[in-house]
Amino acid sequence: MSDLFLTGIGHLTTHAGEAMVDAVVKIEGGSIVYTGPGSDAPDQGNSARVECEGRAVLPGFVDSHTHLVFAGDRAGEFSMKMAGATYAEVAKSGGGILSTVAATRGASEDDLFASAATRARRMITAGTTTVEIKSGYGLDLETELRILRVARRIGTELPITVRTTFLGAHALPPEFRNDRAAYVDLLIDEMLPAAAALADYCDVFVEEGAFSVDEARRIFAAAKGHGLGARVHAEQLTHSGGAALAAEIGAVSADHLDHVTEGDAIALADAGVVAVLVPGASYMMRSPQAPGPMLIQHGAPVALATDCNPGTSYFETMGLIISLAVVQMGLTTEQAIHAATRGGALALGMDRHGTVTTGSAGDLVVLDAPSPSHIPYRPGANLVWKTIKSGRVVAGDQVPR
Ligand code: NIG
Ligand code: FE
Repeated sequence: MSDLFLTGIGHLTTHAGEAMVDAVVKIEGGSIVYTGPGSDAPDQGNSARVECEGRAVLPGFVDSHTHLVFAGDRAGEFSMKMAGATYAEVAKSGGGILSTVAATRGASEDDLFASAATRARRMITAGTTTVEIKSGYGLDLETELRILRVARRIGTELPITVRTTFLGAHALPPEFRNDRAAYVDLLIDEMLPAAAALADYCDVFVEEGAFSVDEARRIFAAAKGHGLGARVHAEQLTHSGGAALAAEIGAVSADHLDHVTEGDAIALADAGVVAVLVPGASYMMRSPQAPGPMLIQHGAPVALATDCNPGTSYFETMGLIISLAVVQMGLTTEQAIHAATRGGALALGMDRHGTVTTGSAGDLVVLDAPSPSHIPYRPGANLVWKTIKSGRVVAGDQVPR
């Protein structure tokens, strides 16, 4: 926690009323205590000062859907897919989720931490101040717990807030290939009770070839009994009913949604389920983008996330995700910036994040550009000049004047 005084902000995105020009922000004890014109600003006092010289400032990015903790990579599989290989061909050659499961099971806790922390540091450098991290590459009790411990450790050792999600229902592990009912029972009876101490949420991949709506309903009911909110991998590859289930059970979020229907969108909006869209995955899989504008039109709250994972979306930078959302999905810049900050905070139940107003968390991004529209417009560069976490500069120029 720290005190910081930012002056000369050319454009301040607040998500609490209008954007401001030529603004000052003061952070004390890690929280914002003033936003407004310099003429009314409190004294700098003992706070460190950041002279923004006309740069744009916005809330830190909230990346509300990642699979950050894993071992190995799937670059070979990527090449096969780009050459036209089908999902079945990739799986037959030893690729897919289960290849990352094998690598992750074989990795030590320290090695998993080292590789995930390296990715998290790049995320911080690119402006992410909060990240959700799922398990799901263990699919056995011991490895799932190891992944969740590593995820929590990221949040204690690095300047980034972490929320964790148990995704034991990501794929059927090889040892249960012929007995899916037994794996669902194991999930409910043994894995969930143990994982609940390390997780904030439970997620299920609802998809043909993964888990059915009925299986997911049982898993989420058990998760609720352990105090875990629900997030759903829904309508990613086919329309499988995950979004309707998310609305039915009052999930916190329904994620992916490439194949979501208008009826689903209305149900999500009515139930207040946040639609977490991951345009990086659609881009990498050369599949159509989720209908973000349609979801917004029906009033569904929308978030944007990287879905960082080694198979379908190895993205770490929210700026690029915002650009894909604007260029390929059709969101406006304002909608995309909101979704990548405030929308992500809503998807993680965080009421002090994603806004810049009195009482907000002191999590900010200073862009090396005069307005946030440069983010989608210049996707090839990291435009983040400084990342500020709880009032402390944690990336960029480390020594404020
Ligand atoms: O979000 N949909 C399922 N899970 C991941 C992919 C995981 C993988 O291929 O390793 C996703 O896209
Ligand atoms: Fe995912």
